[in-house]
Amino acid sequence: MRVDQTDHDGSSRHFDERATTWDSDPAKVARALAVAQEIRSRVPLNGQMQGLEYGCGTGLLGFALQPYFGQITLADSSPGMLATLNDKIAASRSNNLRSMKLDLVTDPLPAERYDLVCSLMTFHHIDDISGLLRDLFSLMNSPGYLCVADLDAEDGSFHGPGFTGHPGFDRSVLEHEAHGAGFRNIEFSTVFQIAKPDSRGQTDFPVFLMVARK
Ligand SMILES: C[S@@+](CC[C@H](N)C(=O)[O-])C[C@H]1O[C@@H](n2cnc3c(N)ncnc32)[C@H](O)[C@@H]1O
Repeated sequence: MRVDQTDHDGSSRHFDERATTWDSDPAKVARALAVAQEIRSRVPLNGQMQGLEYGCGTGLLGFALQPYFGQITLADSSPGMLATLNDKIAASRSNNLRSMKLDLVTDPLPAERYDLVCSLMTFHHIDDISGLLRDLFSLMNSPGYLCVADLDAEDGSFHGPGFTGHPGFDRSVLEHEAHGAGFRNIEFSTVFQIAKPDSRGQTDFPVFLMVARK
């Protein structure tokens, strides 16, 4: 069972400050590897695909998927996360990873189009999920795959008081929003459990993977 002890307000500064130690949490590494494995099992990757990871942080998911793609663009809004990510890309032997500063809440859509867009634990930080899904749909080639991993609906105790994002997602509501953005063949699986210590001892927060087709 994995333990994630990151309580916070969800601000960009929070992520800037934690970027250099992000990868030292084994639970975050295991979470990304579990999601990468599930994506590989559910999507026919062909080694030529252009991928985008949105809200990549230090790129844990993108690095795990990189051998199975032609190129992956790793995008995030946090300058601190991007600085750590750029150090990791420079230190790696990968020539198919690149970083991009991107906040789809405020920035225009980039010109590139992608065969697969993935995102891990980022949707719950973004207010307008329908708008985000429409943007991601626009960024994708057809046929294309959207792979979103995030928390199932919870009681707010994952982040604790002061957090202004989503307390996880009801799968049927997210499916409805994805359908409204144009996606089809929308399917969910449970891919990981994040364990948090609390007054009851420990609470497990399930993480889903939604795979949808354009
Ligand atoms: C919980 S972290 C997850 C990071 C990484 N995906 C992982 O699982 O290790 C959420 C990430 O989303 C990014 N983020 C939050 N809001 C964003 C936005 N509007 N646009 C792009 N990235 C955003 C944060 O900077 C942070 O890196």
